Amino acid sequence: MERKIKSIILAAGKGTRMKSEKSKVLHTIFNKELLGYVLDAVNNTGMAQENIVIVGHQAEAVEEYVTKNYDNAKCRLQSPQLGTGHAAFQAYEDLKGFDGDVLILNGDIPLLTAESLKKFIEAHRKSDAALTVMSAIFDDPTNYGRIVRDEKGNLKAIVEEKDALDAQKKIKEINTGGYLLNWEKVSPSFLEMTSDNAQHEYYLTDIVKWTIKHGLKAQSYVLENNEESFGINSKKQLAQAAKVLKERVLDKLLAEGVTIVDPDTTYISPETEIEPDTIIYPCTYIEGKNKIGKNCKIGPFARIRGGVELGEFVKIGNFVEIKKSKIDAHTNVSHLSYIGDSSLGSNVNIGAGTITANYNHITKEKFQTVIDDGASTGSNSVIVAPAHIGENASIGAGSVISKDVESNALALTRAPLKIFKNWFEKLKK
Ligand code: UD1
Ligand code: CA
Repeated sequence: MERKIKSIILAAGKGTRMKSEKSKVLHTIFNKELLGYVLDAVNNTGMAQENIVIVGHQAEAVEEYVTKNYDNAKCRLQSPQLGTGHAAFQAYEDLKGFDGDVLILNGDIPLLTAESLKKFIEAHRKSDAALTVMSAIFDDPTNYGRIVRDEKGNLKAIVEEKDALDAQKKIKEINTGGYLLNWEKVSPSFLEMTSDNAQHEYYLTDIVKWTIKHGLKAQSYVLENNEESFGINSKKQLAQAAKVLKERVLDKLLAEGVTIVDPDTTYISPETEIEPDTIIYPCTYIEGKNKIGKNCKIGPFARIRGGVELGEFVKIGNFVEIKKSKIDAHTNVSHLSYIGDSSLGSNVNIGAGTITANYNHITKEKFQTVIDDGASTGSNSVIVAPAHIGENASIGAGSVISKDVESNALALTRAPLKIFKNWFEKLKK
């Protein structure tokens, strides 16, 4: 039987260089928190039972995020923050008696994929090591802990930059901060940690030496793609990671047969599925979780905000924003419209400037709009939700619709047109 896995995610640190009031791990890429990327990578391996997130700086906000979004995660407070070893130790009581492997990761590495994590876990399982460290090779290893090996190439220790000898500083294999440990065998190391080092912190990296000293095997596993270990410490690095993630997503979609006219100006979240032969025009921004069918045309200048499902041959044109809506096949929302909390049937035509008014600012409630097959809205109409527009119904241009409209009807709210003849002459007098 395969050994069970639980994870510890370190997320208590301050992230001073972000220059932000907000915890580092709650900064977002495509509207999703950095910590969410890490938890999803772990959960998407399908191998982890439970995640323990170590919180400290902005603990309440981080805990609220975790409990709201992850059923299989809980938080433990680290206060004060005395180093990475001390951070992981906060999960010690929870894991007492756990007879599986514990995965430890930093909470600020959004580029790590579930595929690489799986390979890392499998490498550990295939070996007889009690501890596997996830390492990576960098041309510029500055600031990272270095992987020190003996003459035979076996892992010997991890040395922090601040404690490293000049020769050690030249080592290009670094510690990513990811570990997998046989909990029964290696957890006693937490009771023997000291802060006897340049930073006077309890270093998690010390478990390597401890493991070897106790006659157990420790090894390192080199990440194939070092970029995946990229940790976010500044706003610049956040932007760099977003760019990598964006390119990864676009490359995948292009390979799957989606046409992306201008990858430089197109942003699509990793959780968006798009079927082949759909065309994405320039300056389109798609965030959150969405499903887009075949042969759609999106953009230019479209924004899809998540929770959106489009059937095939749907057209979302310029300056259109769509949020939490389902739109069936052959429906057009071609220009200047907002569709939110809505369900649109097939062959619907949404005229330019149509707005679904879904939000009551005072009560903070949101309401649904339903528009059935074949219906159409004239330009500049507002549908005040909740509202149901029946099949093949028409809404006249410029109308404000605040009631349901039955099938095949025309609904119109319009002041009568008045024409004042010779107005220009009268004005001149
Ligand atoms: C650590 C490693 C280093 C590795 C690097 C990878 C140690 C001693 N060093 O460096 O070998 O190359 O990560 O990025 O472990 N944290 C807490 N509580 C604390 C301190 C840190 O939760 O008291 C969390 C941070 O929020 C962060 C993670 O631990 O998510 C790593 O901390 P950070 O200070 O970024 O790592 P380093 O000490 O620089
Ligand atoms: Ca540190």
